[in-house]
Amino acid sequence: MPRRASTPLAPLQKLFETKRGKRLPLPPKLARLYGSLRMPQPRTHPYVLSNFVTTMDGVVSLNVKGHASGGDISGFSAQDRMVMGLLRAIADVVIIGAGTLGADRQHVWTARAIFPELADDYRRLSKALGKSEAPLNVIVSGSGEIDLRLPVFASGKVQTLIVTTTAGAQRMLKQGVPDAVEVRAMRSSVGTIAASAILEEVCRLSPGKLILVEGGPRLLGDFYAQRLIDEQFLTLAPQIAGRDTDDRRLGLVMGQAFAPGRPRGELCVTCGAAAVICFCDTRFPSPGRAGYDATIHADSEVGPDGMIRDAGIAPTGRCAATFASPGSRDGNGLPGRGAPMATKNWHGGPSRTPG
Ligand SMILES: NC(=O)c1ccc[n+]([C@@H]2O[C@H](COP(=O)([O-])OP(=O)(O)OC[C@H]3O[C@@H](n4cnc5c(N)ncnc54)[C@H](OP(=O)(O)O)[C@@H]3O)[C@@H](O)[C@H]2O)c1
Repeated sequence: MPRRASTPLAPLQKLFETKRGKRLPLPPKLARLYGSLRMPQPRTHPYVLSNFVTTMDGVVSLNVKGHASGGDISGFSAQDRMVMGLLRAIADVVIIGAGTLGADRQHVWTARAIFPELADDYRRLSKALGKSEAPLNVIVSGSGEIDLRLPVFASGKVQTLIVTTTAGAQRMLKQGVPDAVEVRAMRSSVGTIAASAILEEVCRLSPGKLILVEGGPRLLGDFYAQRLIDEQFLTLAPQIAGRDTDDRRLGLVMGQAFAPGRPRGELCVTCGAAAVICFCDTRFPSPGRAGYDATIHADSEVGPDGMIRDAGIAPTGRCAATFASPGSRDGNGLPGRGAPMATKNWHGGPSRTPG
């Protein structure tokens, strides 16, 4: 993942606190930066998080050579990387698709790799949770056309599982598979593997239950199609990327169309949605400009009245929202389903608070 000059890391300021899940033992520095972080403690089934950054007009990848990564979307925000590291530190497994690997070929999906400045704190957190420092990295590829010399396979920094098709596995075996890499071949006539089958394979190898799907959009779409995402972390970067008529820029979900026939609306209602955050001014912050340099981080939950309950703001540069969707998978009929989404306006500026 490309790096840019780091901006000073200001703590996220929580406006409200969710009471759902168990409070995780964040070391002091992480607690100061993030506040408290709660997570359900699933015993019988995996709990699946996803984490993305999007522009205000819904672009998650510019899909341009050299500028395809999430960093180009977030403006290489330190806060965003801090949260990415935090989620990787608590995850047992990180799953990505071959497209995401292709965009960040030198990366390994660990907390340390995304935000080395906090590596010690992330390690302490993983240890306190009884987890290994590096989550199992899972790469999904139907074709098997991936380069096994990349660091995620060959550096020895992570244990890696490749989930592929039988044809993909045959293609890969010709390259020679490194020792730290496990390959699981799934039967598939179309080259796509059902997300539920991916999850099953992952759980067979990893006893841990907290699974982090970092995308990209096609993999995420398959997880949403099967209602397998329990909680969506979404950083909203205050920039408008735009789209040309024949543009190939990617949205949060690709390869799946949900609305109007089968909307994934319960996510919006039980836990909040991107719509809960909107900026009054959409100018992208420029260096040295005072206004609209506000970073908003919302850890949001929508109550029975459909209003946002849990939100936060941090004063430095990007906007993030965390949407919890308890029961999105098992459809436990949380209050608020069907209620209109809450909206809230923030007026930018370093010293302003949400209005
Ligand atoms: N803004 C963000 O937060 C964010 C997060 C993640 C990624 N991204 C960006 O998104 C872009 C990649 O997007 P993408 O949609 O191409 O990414 P992707 O989902 O990571 O990759 C798609 C590829 O992964 C494999 N794949 C995914 N789901 C599969 C399934 N169910 N069964 C079998 N194979 C599956 C296929 O590989 P084969 O072709 O080998 O079969 C497919 O072509 C990159 O530019 C990346 O940087 C942005």
